Amino acid sequence: MRITIEDIRNNEAISTYIRKADESLIAMGFTEHSFAHVGKVAHDAKEILETLGYPQRQAELAEIAGYLHDIGNVINRIDHAQSGAVMAFRILDKMGADAEDIATIVTAIGNHDEKTAYPVNPVAAALILADKCDVRDTRVRNKDHITFDIHDRVNYSVKQSKILIRLEEKEIELRLRIDTTICAVMDYFEIFLTRMILCKKAAEKLELKFVLRINGQKLM
Ligand SMILES: [Fe+2]
Ligand SMILES: [Fe+2]
Repeated sequence: MRITIEDIRNNEAISTYIRKADESLIAMGFTEHSFAHVGKVAHDAKEILETLGYPQRQAELAEIAGYLHDIGNVINRIDHAQSGAVMAFRILDKMGADAEDIATIVTAIGNHDEKTAYPVNPVAAALILADKCDVRDTRVRNKDHITFDIHDRVNYSVKQSKILIRLEEKEIELRLRIDTTICAVMDYFEIFLTRMILCKKAAEKLELKFVLRINGQKLM
């Protein structure tokens, strides 16, 4: 069976896992990983492959992987990419999805966390880029600025973020506008260096160069 993104979005069990996974992350003081995050990641991963001219079905598989990628947090934050992939396997298999599609989706999910990530195929690469580029102040849940940790500060400083693809230059750019009174550009780097290196590798898989631009300045 050809599973669609609507099948995934309308699946009650999946919605429950996303909500419950985020509840655990709330308890641990993490930034938002709920429907706003997975919805944005799903949308951006799909758009990246669409813009690059990949087949529509591959773009949809990236969208599905994006929507499901963080469900493993319901088990534990550690190894959530791997546990999420196994969960997605069980869910998709039960829904009757094609083995080829399941394989692509679980591979992408299992390879998205920076500690063990690798852009093994274009869908995995698109998921990595969409996930690591989702930095924005609205992901910070801690309302008490005095107790902000560096992650809160870095995310809270990002007032605008945009992914741009320039086909002629073969470039994908993460363009950020950050409030430097909240966080210095160096703090951003300290927290996100490994993520940005991973984005570079993922962009290479898509035959693109990764550009990071903060407040108009090209940093990568
Ligand atoms: Fe994740
Ligand atoms: Fe994520």
